Amino acid sequence: MQSFEPVKWDKSESRKDLEGLNENGNSARTYHVGAQNVLPKFFCPFPLGPIETFLLIQSKKKKKKNNIPFGTNSSVVRRWKNAETATDSSKMNRLQGKVVIVTGGASGIGEATARLFAAHGARMVVIADVQETGPEVAASVGTGNCTYVHCDVTEEPQVESLVRSTVDLWGRLDVMFSNVGVVSGCDQTVLDLDLGQFDRVMAINVRGMAACIKHAARAMAEGGVRGSIVCTSSVTGRSGGVRNTDYHVSKHALGGLVRSASVQLGAHGIRVNSVSPYAVATPGLCRMLGTEAEEAERAYEQYVCLKGGEPMKARHVAEAVLFLASDEAAFVTGHDLVVDGGFLHQPFRSSQRWPSPGSSQ
Ligand SMILES: NC(=O)c1ccc[n+]([C@@H]2O[C@H](COP(=O)([O-])OP(=O)(O)OC[C@H]3O[C@@H](n4cnc5c(N)ncnc54)[C@H](O)[C@@H]3O)[C@@H](O)[C@H]2O)c1
Repeated sequence: MQSFEPVKWDKSESRKDLEGLNENGNSARTYHVGAQNVLPKFFCPFPLGPIETFLLIQSKKKKKKNNIPFGTNSSVVRRWKNAETATDSSKMNRLQGKVVIVTGGASGIGEATARLFAAHGARMVVIADVQETGPEVAASVGTGNCTYVHCDVTEEPQVESLVRSTVDLWGRLDVMFSNVGVVSGCDQTVLDLDLGQFDRVMAINVRGMAACIKHAARAMAEGGVRGSIVCTSSVTGRSGGVRNTDYHVSKHALGGLVRSASVQLGAHGIRVNSVSPYAVATPGLCRMLGTEAEEAERAYEQYVCLKGGEPMKARHVAEAVLFLASDEAAFVTGHDLVVDGGFLHQPFRSSQRWPSPGSSQ
C-alpha cells in the first residue's frame, strides 16, 4: 500500500495567482489555480508496477523542473504552460501589426517611445519631427519598421500630409502619439509675460496637438479603425507654477483638448488620453537647464516620493504611453496618466536653485 502526499494546500487560500511578469516587472497575464484543481489526498489500493512507478517519477521530475507543485493535475499544468506561453508571446507584442505615428520622435520621450513601440511589434513606426537627426534615429530603431517624415506640427498642411502619407503607404493609422512640446525661451511670471513667446508655445503645444488629433482622428474614423491617440502633457498641467507661465497654460489647455476629443471621438471607438511626466533628463530639458543629464536627474530626484530606485527616465513615460496605446487600455479614454514618482502628492514642493518641473517642464 502506497500513499501519496498531495500539494500542501492552505484551505484559507481559495485560489492562488500565478502572475506572469514581464522583464520590467509588469504583470502580463494572471491565471488562477483553484483548489478544485488540486488532487485530493488519496491512497493507491494496489502496489504500483514498474511502468506506473517510472511514469510517476518522470512526472514528479518534470513538475519539479517546471516549478509546479507535485499533486497539481494535468489540466492545471496545461493551463500553467499556456499561461507561460501567453506571457512570453504577449511580453513584446502589445502593438503587434499596428501602424503608429510618434511626433517629436527624434529625441527624448518621443524617441524612447518609438523604440518601445517598435520592440512591441508595431508594423510601422513613423517618426515625425523637424530634427536633422530624424532619419538616423529612424534607421537605428529599425529600417524595416521605422521611418522618418519631416513635419512641423505648427503647419496644419504638413500634419495632414503626414497622416495621409502614412495611411497611403501602410494602409491605416492605429496610434497617434502626439508628443511635441517646447518650453519658451523666457522664464517669465505673469507680470512679465512675453506674448510673442506665449503665442509660439501655444502654437506648438496646443495648436500642434489639436492638428495632430484632428487629422489622426479623421483618418481613423474614415478607415473604421478603433484607434488610440495619446498626447504628452506634464505635471505642470495639474498645478500653478512660479514661472514659465506660458508652458503651464499650454499644458492646462491640453487637458481640455484631450477630454473634449475623448468625448467627441468615443462614438467612433477612438480613445484619447494623455500622459503627464515629471522631469526627465531629455536633450530638451538638459538644453533648457544647460546641464548634463546626470546632474539634472540628481537635482530632480529629491522631489519625488519614490526613493532608492533609478531616477526617472524617458522609458518610464514610454511604458505608460505603450499601455494607453495598446488594447490593454481598451476601455480607458479621457484619462491623464501621471508618471511622477509621487511628486504631485507631496504637501510641499519647492525648488530654489533648479526650476522645479512644476515650474519648468
Ligand atoms: N523632459 C521633461 O522633463 C518633460 C516633463 C513633462 C513633460 N514633457 C513633455 O514631453 C514632450 C517631449 O519632451 P522632451 O523632453 O522629450 O523634449 P525633446 O526636446 O528632447 O524632444 C522634443 C522633440 O520635438 C521636436 N519638435 C520641436 N518642435 C517641433 C515642431 N514644431 N514640429 C515637430 N517636431 C518638433 C524636437 O525636434 C525634438 O526632437 C513635450 O511635450 C514636453 O512638454 C517633458
